[in-house]
Amino acid sequence: MIFVTGGAGFIGSNFVLDWLAVNDEPLVNLDKLTYAGNLANLASLQDDARHIFEHADICDAQRMQTLFEAYRPSAVVHFAAESHVDRSILGPAEFIRTNINGTFTLLEAARSYWMTLPDGEKAAFRFLHVSTDEVYGSLETSDPAFTEATAYAPNSPYAASKAASDHLVRSYHHTYGFPTLTTNCSNNYGPFHFPEKLIPLTITNALAGKPLPIYGDGQQIRDWLFVSDHCAAIRCVLEKGRVGETYNIGGHNEKANLDVVRTLCAILDELMPKAHGLYAEQIAFVTDRPGHDRRYAINAGKIQHEMGWVPAETFESGIRKTVHWYLDHQAWVADIQSGQYLAWMERNYAQRDAHDERGIRHDANSFYASHSQGHHPCRRLRYPSLSRHHIDLQTALACV
Ligand code: NAD
Ligand code: TYD
Repeated sequence: MIFVTGGAGFIGSNFVLDWLAVNDEPLVNLDKLTYAGNLANLASLQDDARHIFEHADICDAQRMQTLFEAYRPSAVVHFAAESHVDRSILGPAEFIRTNINGTFTLLEAARSYWMTLPDGEKAAFRFLHVSTDEVYGSLETSDPAFTEATAYAPNSPYAASKAASDHLVRSYHHTYGFPTLTTNCSNNYGPFHFPEKLIPLTITNALAGKPLPIYGDGQQIRDWLFVSDHCAAIRCVLEKGRVGETYNIGGHNEKANLDVVRTLCAILDELMPKAHGLYAEQIAFVTDRPGHDRRYAINAGKIQHEMGWVPAETFESGIRKTVHWYLDHQAWVADIQSGQYLAWMERNYAQRDAHDERGIRHDANSFYASHSQGHHPCRRLRYPSLSRHHIDLQTALACV
């Protein structure tokens, strides 16, 4: 069996579901269940004995050691992390704790266990560390895309904490011969994406009639990869990756944020038209993120040439699937949008200046402060089109 850390988060839960769909090998899912961890993502595995969940913190050395000894995994796929750049700006400590100290603790427990393995199992063992393209820093428009040889230049506390964890993983291979693999992937999107990130936030805010916040001028560029393509790439690297190597993973989909948001608005206009007006009218330009990286772009040639991996989804097909998923899973969103979520929204957005596409200023504070009073899920029912067609039983019960 394998260990998956952070398997209740966005990418981790997609990976767990994918793994068990294509593989009979059981897995142990180690997750602390922070605000980003959600066992509802794995509800379809409730009766599947191949999925074992352990509520555990990767910073807990004793617990990690016990779990390695108890389950004796053949590999670790390490997703667990604090992952949101804006949260890392407002509160970096948890990023240092989990992403750096947690990865170190996990590496130590894994290495101690690995050293006890018989030769064959020792040679076959893998520790796959899931990382990000953000460790490489920011590109100018004309710069070539990041390769595995690009120098690290992290610009946010999140990126710095991931860079530090990448360096620890590298050092464990170089120093101890520990069989590591590292993947650096671009921005993911798809089912179970926590609605604090740009794409799910835009969809859920649009449907709720809330502003669609664009940081700065919205011309920052990200490369977008549909999450199941990332999961397939990780399985590929786990199976065929050369020990000690790093692999960039990307979607060949460089898009400016404003274009991503306009695309989402156009799809929603088509699938869920508003009674009056267009979703793009909800776009609000807000004060930029401090230190905002201008452009990320991935050269994924190495994984393509060595293993034949290429993404199956285009941005056009993946983004449509994603919008459909959110329309079909409004109860999942409603469950997340608790007081804790609303407190984060207010913390991150209330202090930002805001204006719409015509340049008309909004008082961002009152814009978002009103949301903190909106705990009642029935608020979402104020669009007649939503209430008539897309509120399912679970949401209705939540409203009651
Ligand atoms: P996420 O925030 O959705 O999920 C993180 C998961 O880790 C949650 O289930 C959380 O409960 C768990 N976790 C957090 N701290 C923990 C701890 N101390 N012990 C055990 N579990 C803990 O993140 P995600 O977007 O799914 O990202 C997963 C990984 O992929 C991260 O390492 C991230 O850096 C990397 N990554 C993400 C993206 C992206 O676009 N989301 C892109 C490239 C790489
Ligand atoms: P995000 O989804 O937070 O991912 P990351 O910071 O890891 O790239 O943000 C994607 C892009 O969207 C990034 O350039 C910041 C921008 N953004 C907004 O313009 N408005 C928002 O409200 C958020 C959350 C992000």
